[in-house]
Amino acid sequence: MAKSKVKTAFFCQSCGSQYPKWVGKCTSCSEWNTIVEEVVSKPQPNDVKSTFNINRTSKPQQIENIEISDIPRIKLPGTELNRVLGGGLVPGSLILFGGDPGIGKSTLMLQMSLRLKGSKTLYVTGEESEQQIKMRADRIGNKNPDCFILTETSTQNIFHHIKELQPDVLVIDSIQTLHTEVIDSSPGSISQVRETTSELMRYAKETSTPVFLIGHITKDGNIAGPKILEHMVDVVLQFEGDRNHIYRLLRSIKNRFGSTNELGIYEMHGAGLREVDNPSEILISNKEEQLSGTAVAGTMEGNRPLLVEIQALVSSAAYGTPQRSTTGFDSRRLNMLLAVLEKRCGFKLGAKDVFLNVAGGLKVNDPSVDLAVISAVLSSGEDMPISSNTCFSAEVGLSGEIRPISRIDQRIAEAEKLGFEKIYISKYNKKGITAANHKIEIVFVSKVEEVFRGLFG
Ligand code: TYD
Ligand code: MG
Repeated sequence: MAKSKVKTAFFCQSCGSQYPKWVGKCTSCSEWNTIVEEVVSKPQPNDVKSTFNINRTSKPQQIENIEISDIPRIKLPGTELNRVLGGGLVPGSLILFGGDPGIGKSTLMLQMSLRLKGSKTLYVTGEESEQQIKMRADRIGNKNPDCFILTETSTQNIFHHIKELQPDVLVIDSIQTLHTEVIDSSPGSISQVRETTSELMRYAKETSTPVFLIGHITKDGNIAGPKILEHMVDVVLQFEGDRNHIYRLLRSIKNRFGSTNELGIYEMHGAGLREVDNPSEILISNKEEQLSGTAVAGTMEGNRPLLVEIQALVSSAAYGTPQRSTTGFDSRRLNMLLAVLEKRCGFKLGAKDVFLNVAGGLKVNDPSVDLAVISAVLSSGEDMPISSNTCFSAEVGLSGEIRPISRIDQRIAEAEKLGFEKIYISKYNKKGITAANHKIEIVFVSKVEEVFRGLFG
């Protein structure tokens, strides 16, 4: 009998499902040709896995007797990252940080390492050379003797250096470049990603060191590697934005230590990422001249009120089929709103091209922008500008009714803060307004026609 038989299994590279035999189609995610054979375990003479001694003696406790102490959190430099993490970095947490290539993941992590004074950070990279990192650090322009760079991809070697250095925070750029000796398959394969992550998780939990894992994103926007990764980690952060614009949004998709509603906004400029404290002010272009086709919407991104400018262009269709094109807004939703305008309010848009754009490269999903979209389309269609001190915050229903939205007080307060003088909201939001002393003029409307009359007479 063969003494050491290498064990293999078949994994779907898209969802991570395991099969005993090769199949053409993954039955769990329905993808074709994604099943690849990988070595699962190589017989090991010594237990390479237990890099850290597991010496914990935990026993069952009555839930009543468990004392809650405030989780001590490491305060990171800047406010945005702290807020998105739920008030700071929790020791021993494993954070997966995903985003499109070139969006600025490495920049944000390096910037954090450079600005985290007094805590030793180890930035492990398998993607760039030390010189490249140094050049980037010079661009960012912070000096920190506690920031260490290691170019290494084998987890065993990384753990060896970690034992010597004893860092307070560990950053891995990226999880897809790591490999462990325990498994034979190539870096980036499902079983490597899963195994290296679980090794790092063991390290994080046993030494209470927070670990950031940068993760690549696949074409369809998921973090590459099995979904299981997202289950293993404590926090999943996502960095998004349009690479042609300077704004970047940092969101948490999962957070075991805080809410997932928080949002961080950054601006990419020549010397790294800068936090944006007053996003609304930047997203609204303060044009002197009033142009038709723009309307400002009071939306919410997570817990933050945000005013965004919606731009519409309505013109006679040059070709037979009218074009409908949107940037940053759901095109099906635009079609629905146009149908409402056509059917309920009698605006003839059937033979017109309609283009819609959310300024600043943002994507908005909040239905409260509906009214601003409709107003921008009307304004462009009629070629009459909307006064620049007016904004809108309401959803529009299929029968042309103006529907109420949540957290109206916060949106009104944000509009007021930015000097708007008039806000159109749903009549059904009247009850929801608790703050009595809004200085801004609030116009309550219940139908699209009322808005049209209010704006254009
Ligand atoms: P990077 O952090 O390498 O992205 P990721 O790790 O997510 O792939 O960011 C790369 C982009 O950021 C690159 O196209 C250049 C830009 N950038 C700046 O504009 N200013 C800067 O100071 C830095 C460091 C990068
Ligand atoms: Mg990178």
